[in-house]
Amino acid sequence: MVRFDILTLFPEMFAGPFEASIIKRAQENHFIEIALHNIRDYAPGKHRVTDDTPYGGGGGMIMKPEPIFNAVEAILGIDVPQAGYRERYGQGYPPIILLTPQGQLLTQPAAQALTTVERLLLICGRYEGIDERVRRYLVTDELSIGDYVLSGGELAAMIVVDAVTRLIPGVLGDTEATAKDSHSEGLLEYPHYTRPAEFRGHAVPDILLSGHHAKLEEWRRHQSLLRTQARRPDLLALAQLSEADRAFLAQHGPGSADGADEGNGV
Ligand code: ADE
Repeated sequence: MVRFDILTLFPEMFAGPFEASIIKRAQENHFIEIALHNIRDYAPGKHRVTDDTPYGGGGGMIMKPEPIFNAVEAILGIDVPQAGYRERYGQGYPPIILLTPQGQLLTQPAAQALTTVERLLLICGRYEGIDERVRRYLVTDELSIGDYVLSGGELAAMIVVDAVTRLIPGVLGDTEATAKDSHSEGLLEYPHYTRPAEFRGHAVPDILLSGHHAKLEEWRRHQSLLRTQARRPDLLALAQLSEADRAFLAQHGPGSADGADEGNGV
C-alpha cells in the first residue's frame, strides 16, 4: 500500500482522473490511498492568504511558506525542526516531493523506485513560484514531468500517481504486465496488432501468424531496437544491449535498407 498525500490549492482538479479506470480500482483494492489537502485550509488569518508579491520586485505572485509548512506539520503530526525536515527524513518519515519544472525528470526507474515507499507527500506549486525556504527546509526531492511549463504542479502530481500506481505489483492483471512497456527496459515497445489479419488491404506481419514463438520474440526485440534507434537514439545510447542486439543494429541500423522502416505504431 502506498499512501499519497497531495497538497494543493485546487483539490477539485483531481476528481476526474482519480475516479476512473486503474487509479479508481487501485484505491478500491487498497493498493493505494490518496488524501487531498487544501493548502488554503492551513493559511492563517481570516482571508487565508496563500501568496504574496516577491521581495525585490518582479512580476507574479509567490506561494508563502507558512501555509505549506503548517500543512505538512498537521498531516505528519510533527514539528519541522529548525534545521529542516531532512534532519528527520530517513527515520520513518516520508519523502516530500515538490512538483516543479526545475526538478529531476520523472523517468520509469524513478517511478519504479517510488513504488517501494509506504507514504509520499506531493506539493503542487502554483503562481510564479514558491518561497525558496520550502525547497531548502521542507522538501526532500523535486520532480519535473518534462521540459515545459504547466500552470501548476497538479497535473504533474496526477501523472506521478498514475505512473507509480500501475507499477505496484498486483495493480494490473497479469495480462497487463508492465515488464515489456516502453521505457521499462530502456527501449521503446515493439508494434502491436490484433484481428483482423487483413484490414483495408493492410496485412499484419506474417511472423505474428506463424506460431513460431522464438522467432516472434526475436522479431519483437528487433522492432524495439529499430524503433528506439529511429525515434529516441538518446535512449538507445543508455540501454543495456546484448552482443546480438548490437550486431543487429550494425547491420540494420540507419543508412541500411530497412533501418528507417520501423513502422508507425505506438
Ligand atoms: N509545474 C509546472 N510545470 C511543471 C513540470 N513540467 N513538471 C512538474 N511540475 C510542474
